[in-house]
Amino acid sequence: MCGIVGYVGGEDAAEFLIDGLRRLEYRGYDSAGVAIFGDADIAITRSVGRIQSLADRLGTPPPGTLGLGHTRWATHGPATEENAHPHIGGDGEVVLVHNGVIENYQALKDGLIEKGYQFTSATDSEVIAHLIAEGLAQTPPTDDQPHARYVTAVQWAIGQLRGTYGLAVVFRDKPGFLIAARFGSPLVIGVGRGEYFVASDASPIAGRTDRIVYLADHQLAVLTADGFSVLHRDSGKVRVNIQPLEAESGEVSLNGYEHYMLKEIYEQPDALRNAMRGRLNDQDATAVFGGLNLTPQQLRSVERIILTGCGTSWHSALVGEYMIEELARIPVCVEYASELRYRNPPIENNTLVFGITQSGETADTLAALNETKRKGHRTLAICNVVGSSIAQASDGGVYLHAGPEIGVASTKAFTSQCCVLAMLALYFGRTRHTSFETGERIIEDLRRLPAMIEQALTCDAEVRKVAEKYQSASNVLYLGRRYNFPTALEGALKLKEISYIHAEGYPAAEMKHGPIALVDADTPSVFIMPRGTTYDKVLSNMEEVKARGGPVIAIASSEDTEIRKIADDVITIPEAPEFLQPIITVVPLQLLSYHIAVLRGCDVDKPRNLAKSVTVE
Ligand code: AGP
Repeated sequence: MCGIVGYVGGEDAAEFLIDGLRRLEYRGYDSAGVAIFGDADIAITRSVGRIQSLADRLGTPPPGTLGLGHTRWATHGPATEENAHPHIGGDGEVVLVHNGVIENYQALKDGLIEKGYQFTSATDSEVIAHLIAEGLAQTPPTDDQPHARYVTAVQWAIGQLRGTYGLAVVFRDKPGFLIAARFGSPLVIGVGRGEYFVASDASPIAGRTDRIVYLADHQLAVLTADGFSVLHRDSGKVRVNIQPLEAESGEVSLNGYEHYMLKEIYEQPDALRNAMRGRLNDQDATAVFGGLNLTPQQLRSVERIILTGCGTSWHSALVGEYMIEELARIPVCVEYASELRYRNPPIENNTLVFGITQSGETADTLAALNETKRKGHRTLAICNVVGSSIAQASDGGVYLHAGPEIGVASTKAFTSQCCVLAMLALYFGRTRHTSFETGERIIEDLRRLPAMIEQALTCDAEVRKVAEKYQSASNVLYLGRRYNFPTALEGALKLKEISYIHAEGYPAAEMKHGPIALVDADTPSVFIMPRGTTYDKVLSNMEEVKARGGPVIAIASSEDTEIRKIADDVITIPEAPEFLQPIITVVPLQLLSYHIAVLRGCDVDKPRNLAKSVTVE
């Protein structure tokens, strides 16, 4: 899941390319490169690591009004300069950047090597560059249509590919000309005045133009400074919809915070206000959603709900399962998106399938939704990025309106997803057995959420002290029950992904069936135990850990004085109704992982081996 950019127009391309790559760096930061088409030739600069080292290597950029850029998340071949993009095809007549995975690259590569093509990298992407060069070699020039030969060569080449691609390509013999194409990986075109921008998502384009085209699968865009056209890979021109660009997709400043993750943790109260704005209907004591596109009959006939997603989004799906089953009494299945597609479960009619995703680009979730849709089931998205692939592919959905989430470790998206799932539970519940009074109480509780999070955030200093105490741990256990079991999983994931400490989340009662063997003086256990149905049970689980010398950190209600007699460290949070507790109890867990990662000198916003949106399967 790399980030690609391209530019053709009247200005020097370098400034947009570098700035655009900075805005896409959350998609991958193993290596980066640019190609700038000057008067005479194409200057390629590549470097390992972050965009800053590329900018340093580039120094004063060469002039040129046509260019490509790429930031890499390695799928094939290590993070080296040879494997960095742009890649060259033939003997330099083709220059290409690619985001995606080509599954049949080895077979194609063998064929090209037989034809005498020389490979300089271990990547799958270089195959595409040589394929296009081969396409050019096979396609004689036509005087009347100067572009045709190049378009034909690209169409021929991508016709051989099995896998996913978002790519942009320029040609040594064709200044001022760029072709972009997509299948499975996101790609957008920014429509300027005498200039055009290509990017993996809208963020590089914001502030450059307010008109955008979201390319669909199998579409190619042919761009020059004078204009652009969009073609289908196998057939001719297609009409495209130039849409206004959402302002919020722009440059995101740190606003004085040291890291995006900390900023996004503190943005949660506002993110929840945005998620609820205009969606709580006091008159009917229910929630309203403008984009679900469900008729009252369809709503009433829903007999089962599948919630699917990956990583943190899968954790919020687990919270949603508890909420919807409890409040709406509709059976819910939670599926790892990467498994759902291949597990091929029997899905009854009248089943709604929700794909939960912050980025809207996660390939596993997109594939799972497409598979269930292909089988005739209604697919809906709970998503944070307007116009994203999953939003486009679904029959309807709910936007989170949480604003851009840049930190790779998802925080405000989790709490916003849980908030939307609570409103969906109310929405479905009020079409069934949830009374008006209960609906009113739920709305009241939801409206108190932002203030409850603001109060929970006051534990920051307390959490920092606990982080200092346990920053050298090599294993940590997270334990909770009912609604707080998914929160335990989420807390463990946050610590793993940004501090690289091994951590596991479990239902607290599961400990005695094995994991308790891990308990010793160096393995702290974090118990998520606000007051609730299973409080006493969790307390006994905590005693079992204490009895084996395990240090215990408790996330507990501020009114809970008993807990201090047992736990080694207590972090207090405000009381909340049980079904909303994950939205509150996760806050100290987010802060704990953040402070431990900072104390360990980790790159909090861009942790190793990860990327913000996983656009490859
Ligand atoms: C969470 O912190 C991670 N960034 C990751 O697990 C993420 O939740 C997962 O890749 C799903 O992403 P999505 O919500 O954008 O689909």
